[in-house]
Amino acid sequence: MKQIIKFYQFLGKYKGRMAVFLLVGSIGMALETIRPYWLKEILDATGSGDREKTLVFFGLFGVSVVIANWINSLSYYLGDKVLIPLSREIRETVFEKIMELDFAYHVDKNTGSLISAFRRGDGSVYSIFDSIHHELFRVVVSLVITLWFLFSASAEMGWLMIVVFVVNLAIIWWLVKMNLGARKEFNDSEDAVAGVIADGMINYETVKFFAAERKERRRLSEKFDVWSVKFWRFANSFRVMDIVISSCAGGGMLVILWLAIEKVGKGFEVNDLVMISGFILGFYWQFFNLFFRIRDIAKNLTDMEKYFGILDNETQVKDPKKEAKLGKVRGEIRLENIGFKYPKNRDKILDGINLVIKPGEKIAFVGRSGAGKTTLTKLLLRFYDPSAGVVKLDGVDIRKIKKSTLRSYVGVVPQEPIMFNNTIKFNLAYGNDGAEMAEIEEAARKANILEFVDHLPDGWETQVGERGIKLSGGQKQRLAIARALLAKPKILIFDEATSNLDSESEKKIQAALEEAGKDRTVIIIAHRFSTIREVDRIVVLSTGAIAEMGKHDELIEMKGIYAKLWELQAKGKAVDEMIV
Ligand SMILES: Nc1ncnc2c1ncn2[C@@H]1O[C@H](COP(=O)(O)OP(=O)(O)OP(=O)(O)O)[C@@H](O)[C@H]1O
Ligand SMILES: [Mg+2]
Repeated sequence: MKQIIKFYQFLGKYKGRMAVFLLVGSIGMALETIRPYWLKEILDATGSGDREKTLVFFGLFGVSVVIANWINSLSYYLGDKVLIPLSREIRETVFEKIMELDFAYHVDKNTGSLISAFRRGDGSVYSIFDSIHHELFRVVVSLVITLWFLFSASAEMGWLMIVVFVVNLAIIWWLVKMNLGARKEFNDSEDAVAGVIADGMINYETVKFFAAERKERRRLSEKFDVWSVKFWRFANSFRVMDIVISSCAGGGMLVILWLAIEKVGKGFEVNDLVMISGFILGFYWQFFNLFFRIRDIAKNLTDMEKYFGILDNETQVKDPKKEAKLGKVRGEIRLENIGFKYPKNRDKILDGINLVIKPGEKIAFVGRSGAGKTTLTKLLLRFYDPSAGVVKLDGVDIRKIKKSTLRSYVGVVPQEPIMFNNTIKFNLAYGNDGAEMAEIEEAARKANILEFVDHLPDGWETQVGERGIKLSGGQKQRLAIARALLAKPKILIFDEATSNLDSESEKKIQAALEEAGKDRTVIIIAHRFSTIREVDRIVVLSTGAIAEMGKHDELIEMKGIYAKLWELQAKGKAVDEMIV
């Protein structure tokens, strides 16, 4: 029911077009249904030898045959005038909602399943529109006309028709309800299949590393085992429905027809019998139509549930009702007593972090893998809100700043940069649509990637492949630096890749960072200490808290965790492998 309300909320925008479409549809259906009446009039006229009258009614009969089809085509055209923009609008709205949803939602989602639900949902918009406004509507028009003629022939038959209709409707309703559960289970199994397919496609590299093509096929096959069972249950439920409905509707119709036959000679003529049987036979098919459509609507409502359900997801990290004024951003960050744990996770990742990062300061975070360094940057961007404490930008609680505003001040070079399957230029200019070519080249120069782009045969128009697969790790990172710089952020976060880059590549990134660091606050999350020897301050994170803090030389002298790590790293070990 909720889905239907939402569906009509979307449809509300097209009230005018809908009215014209329904009017034309009812005219078409009325012309179609009324045919047995013209037939009876033709028989009456021929019986009385009235040639002129016969021709007139024959003409009307012919018109109702030909014109009805034209009008029906017109009504489909008018329906499409609503349906096509409607489907587009719903798809765009749902996509926008998915894009808007929190980081936490995206972490939990399964892209393959979601796309499957999305596609099914869009299909259901078409089917429901069609079923309700073309088919069900036609059944109603046809029922009204049939009843009118039946009642004018005999009230008894009219009432009987109503009883048959109501009883059948109740049976259809009951059967359809049973069928819904089967459809829901089938949908889940279908989404699970899509999930495995998408997972395999995304992870094709890992599949190749382990020559696991057959294993993936098996994984899919297992999902299909469940899918087959659910499919059969769903399909068989249809067969039961078909048999029950054809028996009930057929039985009812036969009773009415028998009543009409019995009346012949008792106030009824054979011509009346022809008309009545024409109406009854015509409506018998409408029963099937009704049944198929209700079944279709129910199935599609189930399909719509997941699709529209996406719109019900609430954003957890909300924008403030009233935004605080920041003025010109200086780039001072204050972490006050920050504590954090991920939703659905019991472990505290950060606990009691207090830190002030001055405007223009270059600060580095180090600590073993999983210490919470990347998590800290997620809090700065409000991907999540801290479980305790406050993050402030220039003295303002960042929960009082709109997420889009906050993120426009912060440029991020993520640990594993991911690119759109598009050109280098598209990716670089992603955060600054209006950027001039000169600005793009300047950012690329600063990030040390310009030379590389210039040497490519297709230059800026080079396609980078899915997720940026055609670029090397270092190139992707420098492209990500350029991308962040082009947006001219006041704060730059550089989450260094854990994978080792060759020293040439590292030097290029180092130089890019130095260039990028001018005039802005820079936070570097470092895995190789050689990259942070010159920063203003190094913060050592351990067990969710700040363990040490100072310049490189000071920390070495302190002979604490950092000094130990430095020594180990000098021996060639990566920080990630060390226990701090
Ligand atoms: N979305 C998430 N849901 C639940 N737990 C998470 C999530 N993301 C990260 N974690 C956990 O939070 C902890 C900190 O992760 P984080 O990515 O901040 O580590 P890190 O210090 O950046 O490590 P690395 O040096 O390996 O990049 C890890 O134990 C990780 O498993
Ligand atoms: Mg990390």
